[in-house]
Amino acid sequence: MSTIGEVLPQGPRPRHPDPRRLESGRRDFLSSIVLRVTGVLSALLSLAPLPGVLRGRTGKGAAGGKTDAGPLESIPPGGGRVVLHAGGPALVVRLPQGPRAFRAVCTHLGCVVRWDGARGEIRCPCHGARFDPSGRPVSGPARGPLAEIPLSVEGGAIRLG
Ligand code: FES
Repeated sequence: MSTIGEVLPQGPRPRHPDPRRLESGRRDFLSSIVLRVTGVLSALLSLAPLPGVLRGRTGKGAAGGKTDAGPLESIPPGGGRVVLHAGGPALVVRLPQGPRAFRAVCTHLGCVVRWDGARGEIRCPCHGARFDPSGRPVSGPARGPLAEIPLSVEGGAIRLG
């Protein structure tokens, strides 16, 4: 046990690093970076088809085409659901006078709006904007109406676009 003031034995003096080991470490480091970059690029390329999947089952993208939004019966009367259409969210609501669809992007700052079946209105969760079932703003910071999306029901299936 050592006490204060006692001189401890000195170990071997530190040597200069071996340049060959330094070069090997640098090579390993660069190899690991190349592997990580390659891995990230591979992951991104594997996701490339995803936007096509997100456009909807039969969607043809922003250029047009129809989106199969599922069976009408999957939305209860007075209910609503957000689906993907033309690369963005669309809100389908089933009203007593028939189903309607709107672009589900708030006209204030772009949050995705939702159907509030209990109140029978469309609400934005971000800053509290409220829209009537026709997409017109009724309160909150949003000033513009939600854009309506043409909707048809073909063989019991909701088609958007
Ligand atoms: S983004 Fe909808 S109220 Fe602000």
